[in-house]
Amino acid sequence: MNRETQICGLGFFVPDKVLTNDDLEKLVDTSDEWITTRTGIKKRHIVDGEACSDLALVATRNALRDASLTPRDLTHIIIATFTPDTYIPSAACVLQKKLGIKDIPCCDVDAACTGFIYALDLARGLCALYPEANVLVVASEVVTSRVNFNDRSTCVLFGDGAGAAILSNSAANGAVVEDILLKADGSLGELLSVKGGGSAYPLRFGQQADEDFFVQMQGRPVFKHAVRFMTNIAREILEKNNLSVEDVDLLIPHQANNRIIEAVAKKLGISPEKVFVNVQDYGNTSAASVPIALAEAREKGRISPGDRVLLVAFGGGFTWGAALLKF
Ligand code: UT7
Repeated sequence: MNRETQICGLGFFVPDKVLTNDDLEKLVDTSDEWITTRTGIKKRHIVDGEACSDLALVATRNALRDASLTPRDLTHIIIATFTPDTYIPSAACVLQKKLGIKDIPCCDVDAACTGFIYALDLARGLCALYPEANVLVVASEVVTSRVNFNDRSTCVLFGDGAGAAILSNSAANGAVVEDILLKADGSLGELLSVKGGGSAYPLRFGQQADEDFFVQMQGRPVFKHAVRFMTNIAREILEKNNLSVEDVDLLIPHQANNRIIEAVAKKLGISPEKVFVNVQDYGNTSAASVPIALAEAREKGRISPGDRVLLVAFGGGFTWGAALLKF
């Protein structure tokens, strides 16, 4: 494996439309107080007609500009999403068309909220196979297309958005991908699911969508597993690389719930100033949450050259993963 694969461009995008906790109070029996104290979320951005590839397109343009590349320089496109525009064609193929390019391979991967870190590892593999590669990884989610706005236990949690990264072996000053660790446990899949429309739960012609079509989650056990798995994998990747928590300059966790983030940070023994949190502004954007946070953290000056950044995520499947980056 080439140890010098780098992220040479980052970008993100969230749609303009904002849904506040006050707006949600008008839709379901909830309150700003409940949402804020239980999750830390104050608002989320939601689409107004845009699809997964539309959000991905803007995030990609921002990442290309950051990398000083053009669409023609890309060699592969991977989109991490569980909310593609359509099942066929893939969101990656739709994005390729919108970028005005042809011929390069394109596919989607689905690892729910861990999708970006999964796609990053696949991209790292492509860079090892093809030394001249410039792999575009975009995590783009229109989670609200699969949210039941009658279900207060889920609809307050999610938002839409996209984050993009470009990986290459030849960047002059990108972030080196030092290591990635991925895990999954399919036996826990029932705790967090979106079933309807899949081949095990097919929608018949003329049939109305019901609750199964939307995100369903058993919040408490998911919360506990999220804390345990993210903490453990963060420890494991550090140990594997002979590093300690003191060697981490910034922790960027999946942005699902501020209480989960605080619990992970406390268990790891990492101070709150070294943890990036933006869940208050975007809610849980599934796979997009980590790359949005990574791009925003750098934009806000929270990452300096030489910093080591630890990404950690957790999601349906269950899937979880961690990545070490050196800027
Ligand atoms: O990205 C993938 C991973 N997803 C996650 O990591 C999410 C993990 N889970 C969580 O973040 C939390 O479990 C939630 C935020 C979803 C829920 O917080 P909780 O502290 O676990 O609350 P709960 O589900 O135990 O519900 C407590 C109470 C219940 O009422 P009773 O039974 O005590 O009377 C719920 O009916 O809060 C009620 N409740 C609400 N009340 C007002 C649930 N949703 C709402 C709501 N507004 N939106």
